[in-house]
Amino acid sequence: MNIVILAAGAGKRMRSSLPKVLHALAGRPLLQHVIDTARKLEPTRLVVVAGHGGAQVREVVAADDVQFVEQKQQLGTGHAVQQALPLLDPSVPTLVLYGDVPLTRADTLQRLLDAAHGGSYGVLTVEVDNPSGYGRIVRNAKGDVTKIVEQKDATPSELEVTEINTGIIATPTRQLAAWLASIKNNNAQGEFYLTDVVERAIESGVAVVTAQPDAEWETLGVNNKVQLAELERVHQRNVAHALLEAGVTLADPARIDVRGTLECGADVSIDVNCIFEGKVTIGDDVSIGPNCVVRDSVIGAGTRVYAYTHIEGSTTGEKVVLGPYARLRPGTKLGDEAHVGNFVEVKNAVLGHGSKANHLTYIGDADIGARVNIGAGTITCNYDGANKFRTVVEDDVFVGSDTQLVAPVRVARGVTIAAGTTVWKDVRESELVLNEKTQISRHGYVGPTKKT
Ligand code: UD1
Ligand code: CA
Repeated sequence: MNIVILAAGAGKRMRSSLPKVLHALAGRPLLQHVIDTARKLEPTRLVVVAGHGGAQVREVVAADDVQFVEQKQQLGTGHAVQQALPLLDPSVPTLVLYGDVPLTRADTLQRLLDAAHGGSYGVLTVEVDNPSGYGRIVRNAKGDVTKIVEQKDATPSELEVTEINTGIIATPTRQLAAWLASIKNNNAQGEFYLTDVVERAIESGVAVVTAQPDAEWETLGVNNKVQLAELERVHQRNVAHALLEAGVTLADPARIDVRGTLECGADVSIDVNCIFEGKVTIGDDVSIGPNCVVRDSVIGAGTRVYAYTHIEGSTTGEKVVLGPYARLRPGTKLGDEAHVGNFVEVKNAVLGHGSKANHLTYIGDADIGARVNIGAGTITCNYDGANKFRTVVEDDVFVGSDTQLVAPVRVARGVTIAAGTTVWKDVRESELVLNEKTQISRHGYVGPTKKT
């Protein structure tokens, strides 16, 4: 089948310089949602009709299986589909989707395709309480569709109809060129309406059939930021319900945002206001505290993540303890039972089994062995202003508080680093390392007093 996605409209009501179809829902452009749904149906041709902001649209959603055509002037939905015709395979049906209708389920589209199977013309319609603004489905006494009439062109009795046109259609492709060529723009909006093709199909003896989605939200479009926000909530509610059904405990299904894919093992619990971005995988028995942000990461089984922890591009082993207020940046790998505590930042570094950095520390570009205790205020000085260097700390090292490790530097196994040491030379196994310092105390010292 061919799939055509209409995405040429300006979207003025978004009041934004970004083309409407590129506004994000769940972290992905609206048009990307439609393309991803389209792909599930395995089309042989996938064509996006771009117009407003066309160059930007092409750039953002470019892919090998997507072709673009430009609709230079937006003369109506019929005209838009006409632009795609040269790229379509006439021997298979064509499904028309909309770049600003992001939440249609692939099953629903398949239902429409099945209904139109064998050369019928299929329209996805839906019954709504308030049909205002939509095209109405007009049926005869037998219940057959006779036409679709736009709100602005409808008679008072047609305005009463509550079955509306979602805009999504499945059509035979071979006749489509002739049908589109014959439609006129002598209507209230002076546009070439795709909806007028219904009457052409009937004239050609092609049966017009309809199918309905399970839920109305599947067919809702985005015209302004209010509708965008509403659809975001619909989508997040759906994601939250799927997680609940899969056995995940959510403190509040209305306070989780998933902007990508979140896979959870058994007995995972997630407190309020967490955001998951990109691809996140969480093992069994993991608990995530409130206000955490997790992006493109894998969290091992039995891990506890306390409040306000940020995790990006990281992998943790099992039974790890993170936060509160920990930050794992890309390239972090934590071994089983590692602890990364409050105000500790780890970047591009490995912490071995059972190693702990519990307070106020920066570990960047480092390989830390197993059972290493990293005292409060430890800093890897990984950057000389031009280049980055690695710090290596082998197993069973004790790093005293307020230590600076000036990379490149290697601390061999079993070393004890005294508190307040600047380590800038390699240290051999089991040594004690400290900087010579003197402590001076002055007896009878009187501090300054405030002038009155
Ligand atoms: C259209 C339908 C209406 C239906 C409604 C559902 C027609 C004539 N009317 O109305 O029956 O109830 O959708 O939401 O089809 N577009 C282009 N090029 C154009 C015109 C539109 O790419 O020249 C794109 C728009 O960017 C948009 C979509 O097609 O994504 C729908 O166009 P819009 O003008 O919003 O149609 P409606 O008036 O809402
Ligand atoms: Ca319109």
